[in-house]
Parts: sequence; C-alpha cells; structure tokens
Amino acid sequence: MKYLATLYLICLIKVCVTVNFAHLCGYSLTADTFVECSTADAADCADLCDVTDTCIGFEYFEETGDCNLINAIRNVESNYTFCSFYMKTTTKQMTIQGRSLSTTDQMLQNLLYESQGTCPDGWRTASTKCTLKLSEEKCAEFASFLNASYSNGLCVIPLITLKPICPTDVTTWALKAYSDGYYCLKVIPRFAGSPAPLSYVDACQQACANIGGYFASIHSAAENSDMICMFFQHLTVSITDFTAINGGGSQGMAIGLISVTGQIVGNWSMSWYDNTTVTYKNWGGGPETTVADRPVFQLTIIMPDTFWHTNYLNFNAFFDTIACKQKARNVRVLGSV
Ligand SMILES: *[C@@H]1O[C@H](CO)[C@@H](O)[C@H](O)[C@H]1NC(C)=O
Ligand SMILES: *[C@@H]1O[C@H](CO)[C@@H](O)[C@H](O)[C@H]1NC(C)=O
Ligand SMILES: *[C@@H]1O[C@H](CO)[C@@H](O)[C@H](O)[C@H]1NC(C)=O
Ligand SMILES: *[C@@H]1O[C@H](CO)[C@@H](O)[C@H](O)[C@H]1NC(C)=O
Repeated sequence: MKYLATLYLICLIKVCVTVNFAHLCGYSLTADTFVECSTADAADCADLCDVTDTCIGFEYFEETGDCNLINAIRNVESNYTFCSFYMKTTTKQMTIQGRSLSTTDQMLQNLLYESQGTCPDGWRTASTKCTLKLSEEKCAEFASFLNASYSNGLCVIPLITLKPICPTDVTTWALKAYSDGYYCLKVIPRFAGSPAPLSYVDACQQACANIGGYFASIHSAAENSDMICMFFQHLTVSITDFTAINGGGSQGMAIGLISVTGQIVGNWSMSWYDNTTVTYKNWGGGPETTVADRPVFQLTIIMPDTFWHTNYLNFNAFFDTIACKQKARNVRVLGSV
C-alpha cells in the first residue's frame, strides 16, 4: 500500500505525477497488456507493476478492480473519456535537440529511452537505425514524433546520436576535436589597463569566465596551432617576419600557463590555470630564474614567433589578446552523425 499517499486519483484532463506512476486522466494509451488481474485499488495495481520486471504502466478500473499491466506503450493521446491509464515515470530526462514535445510526449520519450541509449529500450541497434520486429499495424501506432516507419518486416526508428556543441554562443566559439575530447576556443581582446587588484592571470581567467569559458590550456601541437591561427586573425599589425619574436608586430596572446608558486624554477615548474597537467610544451626563451629584474611570474604570452614566452620582457606592452577555452557539451540529435 506504499503508493496510497502518493497516488492522486482525482484528475480531469491532467497528468498527475506520483513517485513512480503518472495517472493520465483524460488520456488514452496505445499499449500492450501482458497481465490481467484484479486488485483492491490503484495503489495495489501500481505495486504489482512496480515489482514486475517488464511493466511500464497499467490500466486500472475503479468499478471492477481490474488491473491490466502494460509492457509496451506506443502513444499517449488526449481523450477525455479515459481516466484509467497510468504510465511509469522516470527522473531521467531524454532531450533531443530540435524536438520539442508536449508534457505527455516527453514522458513517453523519457520512458522509451529510459537507459538513455541510441535506441529505445528493447530495440535493436543497427549501424544507421533502430529496429524492432513488429507488425506493420502496430508500427503505425507509434506517436508521430518518434519517426517510426515500416520496412521489410521491421519497425524502424532513427538513431539518436551524441553531437558535441559549444555550450555558449555557438557562432563565435570554434569547436575543435583533440585526443582529450571536444573543446571550444575563442580569442578575445585583453582588458584595458592594469588588472589590479587582480593578478594578470586572474584577470584573464575573469575575462574568459565572463563569456562562459576559462583561461586556456594547450595540450597538443594541433591545439597550439589552432590557437595560433585564431591569435593571428586578431592581429591588427602586419607580420613581416614570423621567425622573429615580434614578427614585425608587437602583439601577444595570453595563455593559461602559470606558476602556482609565483616563482619560475625551470620550464617544468609551470602548470595550467585549469589544473590540467602540462603534457605538451612549446617554450620560447625562458622561463628564467636568473634575470634579476623579473623573477616573479606574471603572465605567459604567445608571440608571433608562435612560441610560449613566460615573463617576456615588458610583457604588458605586448599582451593584447586572451586565449579562452571551454569543454564542448554533448547534445542528442536525430540520425547518425
Ligand atoms: C476517444 O476514445 C473513444 C473510445 O475509444 C473514441 O471513440 C473517440 O473517437 C476518442 N476521441 C478522440 C478525440 O480521439
Ligand atoms: C521526423 O519527423 C518529422 C515530422 O514528423 C520530420 O520533420 C523530420 O524530418 C523527421 N526526421 C527524420 C530523421 O526522419
Ligand atoms: C625552457 O625551454 C626553452 C626552450 O626549450 C629554453 O630556451 C630555456 O632555456 C628553458 N628554460 C629553463 C629555465 O629551463
Ligand atoms: C585548480 O585548483 C585550485 C586549487 O585546488 C582551485 O582553487 C581552482 O579552483 C582550480 N581551478 C579550476 C579551473 O578547476
């Protein structure tokens, strides 16, 4: 009887969501019944469904006590003549990019894709589609949003695939694939003037955080090269000699390579602001511990010679842009990618 307190039975054309089941009063389900029995009340019927492995809903009739357990649901339709259906609810939300659903269709989608896979639970995953052996008639009963079609004795539904996207402002961040995952990169102008009371690195992190990212780390030659391309697009001076440190220009891009101690004792005393380990290096001259007038770490900049310069002499005059980064987010889309 544990559901008595949570099952709301007074409903009219509305969905009452309880802990385990939603009472779909005002809706009819297109579903398959696999067990028919009789229980004292709807809560008992819910109990029965809950302990039965394949049960995902039930139909309960107050007047007769008939309790029919359901193991397949193909559609939920608004129909005021029905107040007998209950559908299992799940806390796992299944969202598919570009598919906007009514409350009941969303509940159905959440339930059909409860294990959050590429196909509805129980369907076979083929390379480009999901299939289920089913009659043509039953295949036609699926809610239209599921895009089911019938072919060669099988009911077919498109695959759901994961697609990486930039979490914020997809048009200005560049989506890139690296061996450690998908990332979004963006180069922005530096802050004006002195960052005080913030340090240079904290001010760079702040500027990146303001646009939803963080002060960039670089972990491969490919990523370094992408960063440099974006940096060059921001240069407002023409570069006449890429091999020279200043490259004929006088601009540099800050990257999140820092010294947590504030001191630099050899190249490998450096770490990334985002706490990832230094796995790839592209040092320019320095970092140095021996130069008396700049022993304390301030900022690492990439100069037009494409190398990482830590504590570049008079760096503030050259520091012009900031490299920002964020981890790409996966969204689910319809179809194979
Ligand atoms: C509601 O269900 C009844 C009984 O199955 C059916 O006759 C009727 O056409 C349905 N109404 C709508 C609007 O679908
Ligand atoms: C799914 O169906 C909708 C309309 O029902 C259609 O617009 C869309 O193109 C279909 N998508 C696929 C992948 O079949
Ligand atoms: C760091 O690496 C660069 C380039 O390899 C080198 O020129 C520089 O001397 C190194 N600095 C230290 C302190 O090891
Ligand atoms: C990196 O680690 C430090 C110290 O544990 C922490 O304060 C900081 O928030 C971390 N930064 C990021 C970006 O996770």
